[in-house]
Amino acid sequence: MDKKRTSSIKRRYDRISAIYDFLDAPMELMAFKKHRETVLNKVTGSVLEIGVGTGKNIAFYPDDATITAIDFSEKMLERAKKRAAKLQKNVTLYHMDVQQLEFEDNVFDTAFSTCVFCSVPDPIEGLEEVKRVLKPGGQFILLEHVLSERRFMQPLMNLFNPVTVRLWGANINRKTCENVKKAGFKIINETNLSLDIVKLIVAEA
Ligand SMILES: C[S@@+](CC[C@H](N)C(=O)[O-])C[C@H]1O[C@@H](n2cnc3c(N)ncnc32)[C@H](O)[C@@H]1O
Repeated sequence: MDKKRTSSIKRRYDRISAIYDFLDAPMELMAFKKHRETVLNKVTGSVLEIGVGTGKNIAFYPDDATITAIDFSEKMLERAKKRAAKLQKNVTLYHMDVQQLEFEDNVFDTAFSTCVFCSVPDPIEGLEEVKRVLKPGGQFILLEHVLSERRFMQPLMNLFNPVTVRLWGANINRKTCENVKKAGFKIINETNLSLDIVKLIVAEA
């Protein structure tokens, strides 16, 4: 793990935590909000949320699931804690880095992430950790924005990537489907939700 890069991205999320929901509002309304419930409808058993952020998914946690959620930004996590208390949802929150999960092997039935692997400093290392803590055959559901394959879009996304990384630590040119496969998952389903940029990916450990 690249410790310097990791602490720089983590600090960026700590710094923007108070205004994160405001900054993210356009993307949330255009691309993510309507799909959160779809993701949470798919989770079963013991569930791990990666990069819980300010806790935007918490409202959709099913009452019968056992949810554990992690984030490496303490300040984002504080907001998720407040949201969980307000919504009276039963979730165990940990300050943890997905690149170095502190869970035993094969403990979760389902893992999910929404808009997280754009900013994990070493995404393949993080994805391999998710695979390790999932039971064999366990499901991993990702709602993520990725690099477009379109001829005009792709160079633009590559061009503006350094700007988005500098502003809020998120890459807009990640090849997350490829990374999921490289980490050893089998992709069961890949659905384009907004152009070929926002995707719902269902993978099996
Ligand atoms: C763009 S925000 C998305 C938050 C939330 N999932 C949502 O849908 O609103 C990305 C989140 O992933 C967290 N994150 C990024 N890299 C991480 C890592 N290596 N380990 C744990 N959390 C990480 C950030 O701190 C941040 O809270």
